[in-house]
Amino acid sequence: MRHTITVVGAGNVGGSAAHACLMRGLGDVVLLDINEKIPRGKALDLSQAAVLEGHGCIVTGSSEYDDTAHSDIVVVTAGVPRKPGMSRDDLIMVNADIVGQIIQKTLKYSPHAVFIIAANPVDVMCMAAHRAGIDDTRRIIGLSGVLDTARLRAETARAANVPGRAVQGLVIGEHGDGMVPLPRLSQVAGLPAGLLLTGEQTEQACSNAVFGGARIMEYLGSSAYYAPGAALAVMAEAVLRDKGDILPCSAYLNGEYGIDGIFMCVPVRLGLRGVENIIVLDLSDEEKDAVARSAAGIRAKTASLPAAKRT
Ligand code: 2OP
Repeated sequence: MRHTITVVGAGNVGGSAAHACLMRGLGDVVLLDINEKIPRGKALDLSQAAVLEGHGCIVTGSSEYDDTAHSDIVVVTAGVPRKPGMSRDDLIMVNADIVGQIIQKTLKYSPHAVFIIAANPVDVMCMAAHRAGIDDTRRIIGLSGVLDTARLRAETARAANVPGRAVQGLVIGEHGDGMVPLPRLSQVAGLPAGLLLTGEQTEQACSNAVFGGARIMEYLGSSAYYAPGAALAVMAEAVLRDKGDILPCSAYLNGEYGIDGIFMCVPVRLGLRGVENIIVLDLSDEEKDAVARSAAGIRAKTASLPAAKRT
């Protein structure tokens, strides 16, 4: 029985995520949007691409929630994207309402799905999803560190003049200006990255990762979508293939890292239930302080969420 992945939001990120999931052969995809035409047009395009891409997955475009029934994964990309000059936090009130409605409508047809949230500010939107009716917080995973770490890896690779696949790295904390790159853990071909990069190059790579999304927005006038789409497919694959992959994702913290009651990016082991367990890193005092500041920022923004609206 093939898995079913619903992608809510057929915009740039949703379309890229749908394509990336199909390219990995993760399962059939339902691309859903409030617009009647766009999901159908993109699904038709993706189904024609499928002939050339070799996967046998079926892709459906729809504006009807009952077409999402029995999904294993629901990827929420719908929401107002930020514009140049906006912070992700400017979107809290409008996107909390959109995410809440999406969760209530998709949960009705897929009560056991794992939800991957990409609407921003994602750490706050994960809490909005929880308050909208997903009681088991392990089933809520935020798109955060997989994307931010990809940016750090790409920038490190560029500075070290090596292929990106040779670089490992980690970014945790808020998916926002308060994110916490951990260059101490960066490796190039198994070697500490500090052997190949100067301190200045390392700092620049971290800064380019933190502000990578904003830089792309300055060029495009809209947010990025290829890397977010690819990151969403990596997360969906880790859940569906249930191999215990460890990825940096926004997850609900119950005291880990001394933090309780918010969603924040930390290394998590993913599986069919969503977040199988949280990996607690041994951080330096400086890193602990940065994570604490990041968590405080998320907590303040989460406090501005409207009360849960469960109908
Ligand atoms: C980004 O960082 C959209 O938040 C996403 O590009």
